[in-house]
Amino acid sequence: MNFQKSIVSLSVLVFSFAMIACGGDKPTETTTTEVAAPAVDPEIARGEELYLQNACASCHGEKGLGDGEAGKFLKPLPRNYKSPANEWKNGNTLAGITKTLKEGIKNTPMVAYTHLGDENIAILAKYVEHLSKN
Ligand code: HEC
Repeated sequence: MNFQKSIVSLSVLVFSFAMIACGGDKPTETTTTEVAAPAVDPEIARGEELYLQNACASCHGEKGLGDGEAGKFLKPLPRNYKSPANEWKNGNTLAGITKTLKEGIKNTPMVAYTHLGDENIAILAKYVEHLSKN
C-alpha cells in the first residue's frame, strides 16, 4: 500500500466516524422532503391527452403552432393557435373553438369532431384556448 492510498483510506475512516458521530443531529427536513407535483389543471391534462389521441397535433403541431407534419402541404394551412383572433374564422374564444369542433370549417381539411361528444369537445376547446395563450 502506498502512502497516498493510506491517506485516502484514513480520510474515509475519519469521515465515516464523523458521519456516525453526527448521526443523531441530522436535520429532520432533509429526510422527509417530498417533491410536490407541479399544479396542472386536470382538465388541461385531459385536453392534451385528447388532442394527441385525436391527431390534432399531426396537423396543428404539439404546441398548436400550425406546424404538424401532416399539415405542411394543406390549403389552407392548419391554424396556428397563437395567431391573432382576427385571423381565426370562428374566433379563438371557447364558443368559437367549440363551433369549429362541432361543424368543422367547410371546404377545408378541418372536419367536425361531433363523434367525440359534447364533453370531450368542451375539454378540447379549453385545451386549444390554453395553447393559444401559452
Ligand atoms: C387534417 C389536418 C387537421 C387535423 C387532424 C385537425 N385540424 Fe384543425 N384545422 C386544420 C386546418 C387546415 C385548419 C384551417 C381552416 C381554415 O383556415 O379555414 C384548421 C383550423 C382549426 C381551428 C381554427 C378554426 C378557426 O376559427 O379559424 C381550430 C380551433 C382547430 N382547427 C382545432 C382542431 C382540433 C382541436 C383538432 C383535433 C380534434 C383538429 N383541429 C384537427 C386542419 C386539421
